[in-house]
Amino acid sequence: MTFFITTAIDYTNGVPHIGHAYEKVLTDAIARYRRMKGEEVFFLTGVDQHGQKVQQSAQKQGVAPSEFVAGLTEKFLALWKKLDISYDRWAATTEPVHKRCVQAMLQLLWDNGDFYKARQTGHYSVRQEQFLTDKERGPDGEFGPEWGDVVVIEEENYYFKLARHRQWLLDLIDARSAAGRPFVVPEFRVAELRNAVEKLAGDLCISRPKSRLEWGIELPFDSDFVTYVWFDALSNYVSFAGYDPAPGADQSLFRSRWPAIHVIGKDIMIPPHGIYWPIMLKACGFADDDIPSLLVHGWWNISGAKMSKSLGNSVDPDVLADTFGVAATRYYLLSDIAIGRDADFSEERLIQRYNGDLANSLGNLLNRSLSMAKRYREGALRKPESSPLAGFVSDKVADYGRRMDAFETQAALESAWEIIVRCNAYVEETAPWKLAKDPASADKLDEVLYTLAEALRVISILITPFIPASADAIRLQLAWDGPVHMDQCGWGALADGHRLGDPVPVFPRIET
Ligand code: ME8
Ligand code: MG
Repeated sequence: MTFFITTAIDYTNGVPHIGHAYEKVLTDAIARYRRMKGEEVFFLTGVDQHGQKVQQSAQKQGVAPSEFVAGLTEKFLALWKKLDISYDRWAATTEPVHKRCVQAMLQLLWDNGDFYKARQTGHYSVRQEQFLTDKERGPDGEFGPEWGDVVVIEEENYYFKLARHRQWLLDLIDARSAAGRPFVVPEFRVAELRNAVEKLAGDLCISRPKSRLEWGIELPFDSDFVTYVWFDALSNYVSFAGYDPAPGADQSLFRSRWPAIHVIGKDIMIPPHGIYWPIMLKACGFADDDIPSLLVHGWWNISGAKMSKSLGNSVDPDVLADTFGVAATRYYLLSDIAIGRDADFSEERLIQRYNGDLANSLGNLLNRSLSMAKRYREGALRKPESSPLAGFVSDKVADYGRRMDAFETQAALESAWEIIVRCNAYVEETAPWKLAKDPASADKLDEVLYTLAEALRVISILITPFIPASADAIRLQLAWDGPVHMDQCGWGALADGHRLGDPVPVFPRIET
């Protein structure tokens, strides 16, 4: 059984911002942790390349949409490489394997009678690429600025019979909550989704006439149309996992992976991931147990305001990583936001957290521990019978595991940092520099030096999902090359006589 985790595929109508980067590092941390538990992991991410906005942006630049998305896709790929995102499969929606799968799903639903064709006249939001109803009007009767340009259009399209699955979806949401594995994590968003499903009425338009939008996947049963962008985008979660809707197709690889947990931002829970997607899968014949679940994260804002191109306040993670380093960027994005909640981005805050937690707390602990071992014992450890911090460390490891299993990544980091803080206090309490002066305290000094090195070894495992390269650097200095696995977090893996390496600063302070 594979642990299958995905991120939203990012729109390629603009450059990546820290919201995208957060989602990737969050998913990466979870995926790396699962691998450290010995689970088989399939981590899927990629880019959403079709749609009207892309077509319009390409037109403005006077290039073909394919060329336009290729350029932006490069930027995403380069950034994820820089940020050490350990995905297993790249999902670009222009890939033939995806197109084939989407068309097969469309054909299946067409054959099953889930679609019908109808003519509609109405208000259409160009920005959101959807028809608007009176529900979307503000208290003043107008469509708000969030819809962008709203135009009246009349056209024929294909519709997906969505609302008839309303009760099924409500029952599914309730059954999942009752079974203790909520459809949406964190669970506080379940009520929000449930309310939206209660109000579900009408059907979903799943096509766009080619006269208006060419840059999409053609409907297999009507070549005058392409499919609506959400139908295309959502299907990436199965198309890149080996799903083939054709009757009798070999589904074994897909079955071994599915279902997934989808990591998404709160803006795309309702309606796409929380309503359209489970209903699409249901209509394609997926069983209730094969409906995926959602991990819904919050937003990074800038000084309380939404990041947006028009405000020009979006933060480029590429520049952040170049300026402050990959560890600082990853650590900040993972430590300064609680799962599901929003946070405010600030460079001062990033520097503060890095200097405080990494340069000072962890960096100093590593440096002083190795330096003392080198100075007093030429780096050689003597393993004591027992260690005063062994119990504390194993409690924290257990907290960390529980929190990571519950996707509470920020809280898990806190568990790791409690060990670091405790170790720094332990150095002050035991004052090894005094012990070193007194030959009668030789055993006590050995115990302290071993305890610090062993705690650092465990810490290096716990921080691996968050700042993998730094964790490797720490292990190199500890000269510990055991398997980086959660089952190595038990106390005492450093052998009697183990020789530590030389201290080299891993987290140089950011000077401002
Ligand atoms: O929505 N803070 O793409 P996208 C945190 N292509 N997360 C943020 C954010 C912010 N400020 N801004 C965006 C799309 N995100 C579709 C998805 S999935 C089948 C198709 C998150 O580039 C957002 O919530 O607008 C989403 O999960 C992801 O970044 C991609 O957003
Ligand atoms: Mg968006």
